[in-house]
Amino acid sequence: MSIGMGLIGLGRHGARYAKHLLDGVPGCRLAAVSRQDAQAGERFANDHGVPFCADWRDLLRRSDVQAVLIVTPPSLNREICLAAADAGKALLIEKPLARSTAEAKEMVEAARVAGVPLMTAQTLRFTPVLRRLREQLATIGQVEYFSLCMRAERPPHAWLDQKDKAGGGVVLEIGIHHFDLLRYLTDQEAVEVRAETARLHTKQVEDLAQVRFTLASGAGCFVELSRVSGGRLCRAEAIGQKGQLIADVGPGILTRVEGWQVVDVGSVPDRPTIEIVLETFARSLKDKTPMPVSGEDGLRAVAMAEAAYRSATLGTPVAVG
Ligand SMILES: NC(=O)c1ccc[n+]([C@@H]2O[C@H](COP(=O)([O-])OP(=O)(O)OC[C@H]3O[C@@H](n4cnc5c(N)ncnc54)[C@H](OP(=O)(O)O)[C@@H]3O)[C@@H](O)[C@H]2O)c1
Repeated sequence: MSIGMGLIGLGRHGARYAKHLLDGVPGCRLAAVSRQDAQAGERFANDHGVPFCADWRDLLRRSDVQAVLIVTPPSLNREICLAAADAGKALLIEKPLARSTAEAKEMVEAARVAGVPLMTAQTLRFTPVLRRLREQLATIGQVEYFSLCMRAERPPHAWLDQKDKAGGGVVLEIGIHHFDLLRYLTDQEAVEVRAETARLHTKQVEDLAQVRFTLASGAGCFVELSRVSGGRLCRAEAIGQKGQLIADVGPGILTRVEGWQVVDVGSVPDRPTIEIVLETFARSLKDKTPMPVSGEDGLRAVAMAEAAYRSATLGTPVAVG
């Protein structure tokens, strides 16, 4: 039997969730939606025959909703998560899990106490070319350091430049993808971070950042983040003693550098990660297996971002809590 999903947030990203669910994702059914704009919500309901709830609390009361997908600005994540856990609904929450570690801890604890599964949608983990990069890490010998980069256009929403709504700028919004990826690629925790942030066009939050982590093994990781460019780039590079692996996420290209040679070592077509996330979430619920990216994982990524902000403010390296 498919799991009834209640989708809260039908904006830029939520619309992608809706599309995949309407197109059909194994094990899932779009049971109800909620958004702020009631007219647009009613229009969606008429077009697709999916009930619309003007107030997300009404969506939580529906018995045909077994799992709640939170795709709203991060300022709403905590309140919806606590209420949904209280209502006994499973949770899939978009990154960043929360604006702060304090909020994220409360959310993880609420889900634990209620006994409801919580998955953090750290979607980058499910990118096929990055999965292949992880599989091939052993081919370049000991990894000395990683270099990760995400550059994107200026913020598409006003709320992304409002600290109370977004929680932070590029470090929290897009850096969180790479912070989680670093844990996924290495199975290690970052112990120290040094960060610098800047504002080029934004008013309240940073739109440019350089973050350097040190892992438990001593290996380093440089992360460059920005929202100032035309076009997009998302790249993950592993620099090893026997070669270098370079993954370009957009085109799904994975190359290995040996001497001056650059060899394609398994480029793989991209696949929408939301579809994979939904499929994986539904399967874990059905099989009652642990979530592939837990609330704790989401919390740890937020903790890395928070430590980076602390370092940027203090101007010194700080421990990642
Ligand atoms: N994993 C990824 O790669 C990825 C990519 C993009 C975004 N995201 C994350 O997804 C989240 C949403 O981003 P977005 O770009 O979709 O933002 P967005 O376009 O601004 O959409 C936010 C949605 O939340 C709804 N909303 C706001 N307040 C609400 C309320 N009180 N009740 C019900 N719905 C409410 C809005 O409703 P109205 O539209 O009706 O106003 C809108 O549909 C963010 O956390 C972002 O970080 C993740």
